[in-house]
Amino acid sequence: MNPDFWLNKWEKGETGFHSNESHPFLTEFWLQVPACQRVFVPLCGKSLDMLWLRSQGLAVLGVELSERAVKDFFQSANLQPEISRHGALQIWRSDDIEILCGDFFALTVADLGGCDVIYDRAALIALPPPLRLRYAQTIKYFFPQGTKMLLVTLDYPQSEMDGPPFSVGEEAVRALYQGANIEQLASRDVLPDNQRFSQRGVSRLFEDAYLVTL
Ligand SMILES: C[S@@+](CC[C@H](N)C(=O)[O-])C[C@H]1O[C@@H](n2cnc3c(N)ncnc32)[C@H](O)[C@@H]1O
Repeated sequence: MNPDFWLNKWEKGETGFHSNESHPFLTEFWLQVPACQRVFVPLCGKSLDMLWLRSQGLAVLGVELSERAVKDFFQSANLQPEISRHGALQIWRSDDIEILCGDFFALTVADLGGCDVIYDRAALIALPPPLRLRYAQTIKYFFPQGTKMLLVTLDYPQSEMDGPPFSVGEEAVRALYQGANIEQLASRDVLPDNQRFSQRGVSRLFEDAYLVTL
């Protein structure tokens, strides 16, 4: 997936992945994540989950390719961000929420200052296999062993539909995060609530939550 693919999706408003509510797995399982201070939200889009995390007293650091998404996020949250630049990254900041607008793969460890936990909803599954592996390796490189991640993925027969979103089942999660401790917290049939998948011929769709300890 080259950057233009996602930038076009945002320009055309083709953002079916965006939800107007906090993700149920986040609100249900966040208690299982040990106390932390600053949450890293890779490939964050304009997710309202960032506001929910902030409402729990946490600072949030997102990274997102699309400036349109970042702008929409701050506008719809009625926040007035300060915008600055750091190399290739634009930094949008309002109080405890900061979004780095740019390419995840261009980040350095220094950009993630103070993040001690990760929330990945629809980031890993947004990426095709080679990039997905590079993404997981980058996460493992950025964060020390023992860091916790709440990971939300989709699992469906990949032969029935082209991604994104891609299917990343439990076995694939374990292979990508080899060496990590991986606990599956939930696996729910979400096909009845996702007509856009059944319309594209998908016969089985599960949404899974994992607590990953790197
Ligand atoms: C499927 S969406 C998920 C967004 C968000 N996590 C959510 O739950 O709504 C994937 C997002 O990743 C962004 N993205 C894709 N590749 C990226 C990259 N290399 N660096 C930063 N963001 C990227 C896209 O623009 C898109 O907003």
